[in-house]
This record gives sequence, C-alpha cells and structure tokens, in this order.
Amino acid sequence: MLLLVSTPSILDFASAHAAGRKFVMVTAYDAWSARLLATSDVDALLVGDSAMMVVHGERDTLGATTELMALHTRAVARGAPGKLIVADLPFLAVRKGRAHALDAAAALLRAGAHAVKAEGLRGHAEVIAHLVESGIPVMGHLGLTPQSVHALGGYKVQARSAVAAARLREDAAALAAAGAFSVVLECVPAKLARALTAELPIPTIGIGAGAGCAGQILVLHDLLGFTPEFRPRFVRRFADGAKLVQTGVARYVSAVRTAKFPRPKESF
Ligand code: KIV
Repeated sequence: MLLLVSTPSILDFASAHAAGRKFVMVTAYDAWSARLLATSDVDALLVGDSAMMVVHGERDTLGATTELMALHTRAVARGAPGKLIVADLPFLAVRKGRAHALDAAAALLRAGAHAVKAEGLRGHAEVIAHLVESGIPVMGHLGLTPQSVHALGGYKVQARSAVAAARLREDAAALAAAGAFSVVLECVPAKLARALTAELPIPTIGIGAGAGCAGQILVLHDLLGFTPEFRPRFVRRFADGAKLVQTGVARYVSAVRTAKFPRPKESF
C-alpha cells in the first residue's frame, strides 16, 4: 500500500516564495535545541559548518568534515523530525570532484538532511549540477563564503564594487541554471541583494544582506544572545541567552553552597 505522507521538502521554499511569504531559517547543531526549534514556526534548519566556531570554538569553519557534519545532522534530525533540514557540505567537498561530492552529500542525506548547501560556484558549477541531477537538492551560498576566508582576507562585506557586483550577479544566475533551489546571500549590499531577489528564478536567503531577500537566516546562538562578544551589524539579539545561562548557573551554585539544593523532595 502506498502511503502519501507529507514530509518537509524544498518545495516549501518555492511555495513560500510564490505566496510572497518570507522564509525563516536558523542554524541548529544538536538534538536539544532542535527539539525546541521543532515547536517553533521556523521554516527550515541549517546544520551549518559554523558549528566549528559556535560549538567547537574554532576560529573558522575549515575543520568541518563530512563525518562531523553528519553527526550534527543526525542529532538535529532526531530532535526535529518534522522540520526541513539543510546541511552544509564541508570545506572542499565540492572541489574534489563529483564522486567525492556525491559521497559527502549522501552521508548528509542519510544522516537526515533533506538538502545540502554548497559555498561558491566558480570551478564547481558542474559538480553542483551533477548533485542536482542525482536527486540531491542543493542550496547555494554566495557573497561572504566563510570557507574562503583566507582568500577573501577576512569576514568582510562582499561585492561592493561594480565589478564584484556584476561577478556575483553572474554567479547567482549560473547557480540557478545549475539547478540550485535557493541561494544564501551573505554580507552583500542590501541594494544588490534586493535586485538579485527580483531577477533570480530561485529564492534568496539573506544574512547581512538586508530586508529585500526572500527569506532570512541567522545563527541560533547569535539571535539568542549566547555569543555576546560577537557583534556584527547584521545580528539582532532577540533574547539575552548569555545572561539566562549565567543567572541560572549562579542560582544553582548558590543553592548548592547554601545547602538549599537538593531538598528532601528532590531526593530519594
Ligand atoms: O554555516 C552557517 O551557519 C552558514 C550560515 C551563516 C548561512 O552558512
């Protein structure tokens, strides 16, 4: 018997876009936050390789491997089985040729992702097309591509000059032609992101790219205020997570030291 069950899919992007509804994404790296996000209204979760910086404390995302991304993806998929999950292909996964990219994407989809995200385009457009033709939905990522941080000379706003903006426009069009279902635009001027959103056949998801994108994404820890030392202009803090943790832990420490925890009713 064939059961028709509705599962989250990349078609949700297209339908939100067609309806003019803003698509909302956040990052997730583990099961406990995914369980909380599962009860929220966010449209999709990104298992970003930003996990290397946010969770593992590294200075960039280059240390991510397929195995590590699959581990994070599995945890998120367990926590939020009803959410659309996109997982990052790690550093160089799309540069080692079709077979390597297919293996990496397969590992992420087997771990529970519905789609993968690949940074950049030049030199691997054909690999992205091959993934798409193999039935693997691919989200692109242009502008500030953190895996190229050393080539870009740091985490800086991209495509400020007319030449760089024209190049980004070409890349975005080529990405759509390669079959990507959506593209993240990171740290690009708002005017350019708005123009790209109007001219591209696929929805744009902005981070530091202004309000004109079809959707937005932020790193969960940034929007919840768990990374108070990280203060880029594009992040708005919607909660004071750092204070919540510090206050909660301080109350716990004090309760233990003053013998107020545990109480008899908290003991066996
Ligand atoms: O890795 C990540 O979290 C990302 C987002 C910032 C778009 O790529």
